[in-house]
Amino acid sequence: LAWLLGRRRRREGEPPLIQGWIPYLGKALDFRLDSQAFLKNNQEKYGDVFTVYIAGKYMTFIMNPLMYPSIMKYGRQLDFHEFADQVAPATFGYPAVGSGRFPEMGDQIQRSFRLLQGENLVLLAECMMANLNLVLRQDFLGGEGERGAGVVGMGWSTGDLYDFCNSVMFEATFLTLYGMPAPARRHSDMATLRHHFTKFDDMFPLLVGRIPIWLLGRTKAVRETLIRYFLPQRMMCWSNTSQFIARRAEVLEQYDTLSDTDKAAHHFAILWASVGNTVPATFWALYYLINQQEALQAVRNELHQVLKLPEAQGPQQPEVIVSKEQLDQLLLMDSAVNESLRLSSASMNIRVAQEDFSLRLDEERSAPVRKGDVIALYPQTMHMDPEIFTDPETYKYDRFIEGGREKTDFFKHGQRLKYYRMPFGSGSSMCPGRFFAINEIKQFLCLLLLYLDLEMAQGQEKAQLDNSRAGLGILLPTKDVRFCYRIR
Ligand code: HEM
Repeated sequence: LAWLLGRRRRREGEPPLIQGWIPYLGKALDFRLDSQAFLKNNQEKYGDVFTVYIAGKYMTFIMNPLMYPSIMKYGRQLDFHEFADQVAPATFGYPAVGSGRFPEMGDQIQRSFRLLQGENLVLLAECMMANLNLVLRQDFLGGEGERGAGVVGMGWSTGDLYDFCNSVMFEATFLTLYGMPAPARRHSDMATLRHHFTKFDDMFPLLVGRIPIWLLGRTKAVRETLIRYFLPQRMMCWSNTSQFIARRAEVLEQYDTLSDTDKAAHHFAILWASVGNTVPATFWALYYLINQQEALQAVRNELHQVLKLPEAQGPQQPEVIVSKEQLDQLLLMDSAVNESLRLSSASMNIRVAQEDFSLRLDEERSAPVRKGDVIALYPQTMHMDPEIFTDPETYKYDRFIEGGREKTDFFKHGQRLKYYRMPFGSGSSMCPGRFFAINEIKQFLCLLLLYLDLEMAQGQEKAQLDNSRAGLGILLPTKDVRFCYRIR
């Protein structure tokens, strides 16, 4: 009753307010059930901007992508890091960076993100290529690994597609960022690490939703095991560590107030950031291509043209190396990857208002915002808007290419959109690993298309998106699908 009596009242000029009747939760359950439909319904009822009470927070959703550029301009009043600093410690188990105990750590961490970009990508791409070849050839293409041995000369093999993408991308990304026990050697316990990671990842939406970890069964123990993997004395023994991770380790070493376990927890958080989205994104990129053989063939043809290779390139040939420069020329593949990201991404962009102020939405409209309120963009509704993308439910591998160039003009209400694809977030908090991520997905596709014939197994249902992590990034499939592969 106290909650009902003390509920917020909408002030003059503020966006429509939707509070629900359940104390604290407000509309959280409706939102979780199907966020996309919930937001679309409210947009129809209340217009492009409305405030919803969700799990103790007032969240103002901006539904019109033409308004996004205005929102991005409020770097000072609308802060991302305050929110991240509340969520990340509870999720990954390290003390809040902005707590005042670690002067300048936040800035140093931000600066380290440059090591994932620009010219640093050349070396990262080179390492990733070598590691993808190492894992793929040993495990799946007749190398010395257990699974590989059976494949050569046996025609078609079958496998679970998500599991396949996960095992290859998880390990190759890990080796590229964190390094290896000795040059060209793999960590012996990678399958166990991946198993624990998956257990943790299953609980990720609940942790981000602030469910205390002690309520989540063995999750705390699993997280501790994962964190121990990154203790400084272990990481010191790894070679070929990327400059990005090496720099982060240096930054963390500067703070005596961090225990070794805290430092390890920071490294673990980066493992989540680097594979938590990349693995499902890789799955969808490959899944859609295999499902549409015409798309697969077109992307493969482009690859052969760029690499100037003969038609078939089996793995018995010398390893294929695709350079960063060649990757950049694969525009059709780029389009196909971006199209699968459009269909599978559901990340919410969140900012916290640092003061009461009037938020300018476009030339004519503005909305008063209160300090502490959350401003949220939900780009999935834009990605699925039929006015912007015709047949938005349909996978069109060449949607983002026109006349041999990247297509960048997409419209809403007759106006050209500045932002039309946002799987990596926006503005100041945009994913610093986005270039590396797209590169590694393309590299993975390159090797598979060159080495293997790929088909879906017959007689199974299409993969569906699992909405349980809506708002948090790339959605996983509800269940795995079978695929067939054969060396070309
Ligand atoms: C943050 C998406 C891959 C490192 C983010 C955010 C999104 C995102 C949506 C939050 C942005 C915001 O709220 O505005 C993705 C997707 C990926 C991917 C879809 C793969 C397809 C990677 C990779 C790395 C990485 C490979 C590292 C190598 C990070 C980091 C942050 C972040 C460190 C936090 C940035 C900060 O604190 O300012 N990512 N990401 N991501 N991502 Fe990614």
